[in-house]
Amino acid sequence: MRQTLTEIYEARVAQGSLRPDPAQHEVLPILETLRLWLEQNGSRKVGLFAGLFARPPMPPPGLYLWGGVGRGKSMLMDLFTEATAIAAKRRVHFHAFMQEIHLGMHEARKQGVEDALAPVAERITRETRLLAFDEMQITDITDAMIVGRLFQMLTDAGVLIVTTSNRPPEDLYKNGLNRALFLPFIALLRARMQVVELESETDYRQHRLTGAQVYFHPAGAEARAAIDRLWSELTGGDRGTPLVLQVQGRQVEVPRHHNGVARAGFWDLCGRPLGPADYLALAEKVRLLILEDIPSLSAANYNEAKRFVTLIDALYEAKVRLIASAADAPERLYFEGAGAFEFERTASRLREMQAADWGSAG
Ligand SMILES: Nc1ncnc2c1ncn2[C@@H]1O[C@H](COP(=O)(O)OP(=O)(O)OP(=O)(O)O)[C@@H](O)[C@H]1O
Ligand SMILES: [Mg+2]
Repeated sequence: MRQTLTEIYEARVAQGSLRPDPAQHEVLPILETLRLWLEQNGSRKVGLFAGLFARPPMPPPGLYLWGGVGRGKSMLMDLFTEATAIAAKRRVHFHAFMQEIHLGMHEARKQGVEDALAPVAERITRETRLLAFDEMQITDITDAMIVGRLFQMLTDAGVLIVTTSNRPPEDLYKNGLNRALFLPFIALLRARMQVVELESETDYRQHRLTGAQVYFHPAGAEARAAIDRLWSELTGGDRGTPLVLQVQGRQVEVPRHHNGVARAGFWDLCGRPLGPADYLALAEKVRLLILEDIPSLSAANYNEAKRFVTLIDALYEAKVRLIASAADAPERLYFEGAGAFEFERTASRLREMQAADWGSAG
């Protein structure tokens, strides 16, 4: 029997996997309406050629769901995407999607196509009726300049878009370069999407961690098992996928990522020649980092220690939560090489970031 989203949500509450939240509850009927529309119309062919004979049915306005961190936006979006019984659906991290678009445009230009965005958008509209974007965020001028036309082409072709964001549309690409050119996109969002704020009072991510130990030493099997439990608690058991950040033309890969939670080993992030721009990009993309196996660092590890300091500073400034396993207590990780004095501040930050309410304001 088909259950409505509200019924699915309530079943999860009854099971104990979700806590009842009135603000989340209010979003469910909005998503249910979209789901019904998709299930009734989402299997028909769209795209250029279908359009010759029958125009694709115009979708209702999509949903732009925004609100503070950990409020359950991604959870609601996943619930909706999973429950919507059509094949032509896609849920993708906004950042990854834009990378794909740029790559597609690059290919099209190589083949001499003048309007490189057109074939890329056309391909998507052939394959997709529902696009669910998680974490819409526009920080990059190249994204800012094409996202408006892209959304226009997609929605014109009958693709329904649902997206989550931490900001209302008016605050997207705030203070960005050439922002005036971006403003029509905000108008388009307002015209083609319902903008809904998820006004939940609880940061559930924070809530799930409250009282939990987040710094483990030594970094043995016990620490690993405890971190595995936290990971599955935070990601609902998902294995995660690699997160690839594009930074100044380089690719920085974090081995595992799901829903704003990233997981890496110390050597993945501090054993390679990464710098402040890489750590800032990481801190901007994730809400919580699990960093495992921080070793005791000696004077010979000056470079690793320095990168670690830079990483922690970036996480600290962006109020990213940290779960870590280390060989020793923060103060004893690096105390005799060059820069050991500066490391004291890092140790103190590591202590502060363990507090149950740390990062909850951001
Ligand atoms: N009602 C709830 N009861 C219990 N846990 C919840 C509830 N809503 C969300 N969560 C859990 O809280 C965590 C954070 O939720 P989610 O990732 O959906 O937040 P978000 O609004 O997308 O945050 P962000 O803006 O940081 O991406 C997830 O592990 C999610 O499963
Ligand atoms: Mg989210």
